[in-house]
Amino acid sequence: MSAEIRWGVVGPGRIAEKVVEDFAVVDGARAVAVASRSQERADGFAARHGLERAYGSYADILSDPDVDVVYVATPHPQHHQFALAALRAGKALLVEKAFTATTAGATEVVDLARETGTFVMEAMWTRFQPAVVALNELVADGAIGEVRSVQADLGVSREYDPVDRLFALELGGGALLDLGVYVVSFAQMLLGRPDRVVATGSLFPSGADAEAAILLGWDDGRNAALTTSLKYALPGTARVVGTTGWIDVVPRFHHPQTIVLHRDGAEPEEITRPQTGAGYAHELAEVTECLRAGRTESTVMPLDDTLVVQDVLGQAADQLGVRHAEAVDVL
Ligand SMILES: NC(=O)c1ccc[n+]([C@@H]2O[C@H](COP(=O)([O-])OP(=O)(O)OC[C@H]3O[C@@H](n4cnc5c(N)ncnc54)[C@H](OP(=O)(O)O)[C@@H]3O)[C@@H](O)[C@H]2O)c1
Repeated sequence: MSAEIRWGVVGPGRIAEKVVEDFAVVDGARAVAVASRSQERADGFAARHGLERAYGSYADILSDPDVDVVYVATPHPQHHQFALAALRAGKALLVEKAFTATTAGATEVVDLARETGTFVMEAMWTRFQPAVVALNELVADGAIGEVRSVQADLGVSREYDPVDRLFALELGGGALLDLGVYVVSFAQMLLGRPDRVVATGSLFPSGADAEAAILLGWDDGRNAALTTSLKYALPGTARVVGTTGWIDVVPRFHHPQTIVLHRDGAEPEEITRPQTGAGYAHELAEVTECLRAGRTESTVMPLDDTLVVQDVLGQAADQLGVRHAEAVDVL
């Protein structure tokens, strides 16, 4: 591994355009290459963002010896096959949320990462937001007692378009994998693996889910009430309730700047922790630091957590009748 961690980008779409800009504020990391299914799109992305090399196929970036880690920003079902090939080629990975389209796909990627001793992390940027780090510190310090309940919602109003990745089932469409992953991951971060998952909602004509409410239950009575939607906007609130108070995350909770601590019997305390760059810099810094330290997993976003989140999403999808599958034509 070189002293500077050299990054490649795969799938230069909407999110990759934003994330790549944050390398400017990450020490010891540099984006050097991009791969697209089209040479023209790769060239355009490289030119816009000052990258040295542009590949017109995903396979080509895997044989570039001067790429240490690849940021995978394709639609969710296109993560799995590329990730397996990248691990076999010895590339570390930062894989966009949702990690994969299915629990089986996620398990296969995690198993191969562990077998090959190669670093992989889900790009769940929420966990690295300084305001969320502050929330976790308060919880660990016992500021609200024992966490018993988490409430969170995240939804946007989008006009149905069957070919858009948000709605097309073969592109992992639906609220669950795109936005539901945030509410589920937030609850999992605070409460761990649930004992029960109950989901209700509705589907688009494509078979992708349009809206979902998910209730998570633990045998000791803890719970999470979560809502997601692509049919209507939801405010993006989150509340963490403990035995001696609660913390509100000021919307939108998936990349917040401010949290409000309500301790029993005390005035609310507002805590603001601005993000660096557009908020993606923190996850890029985590991966960069892990690689420099020779670690194969992040302790902030461990692979076991990713697997639990994927399993909850899978159970919710099953209950709603959504049938996700991993793509097999990626490389
Ligand atoms: N962290 C965040 O804030 C955030 C926000 C939005 C999205 N995301 C995640 O990032 C991923 C990509 O989302 P996006 O909104 O950037 O999607 P997008 O704009 O559609 O871009 C995805 C890119 O993937 C490539 N791709 C590979 N196979 C494809 C296929 N069969 N159909 C369409 N595109 C394909 C395309 O690039 P080429 O054809 O040029 O290779 C495309 O530009 C998703 O997993 C999503 O959940 C994260």
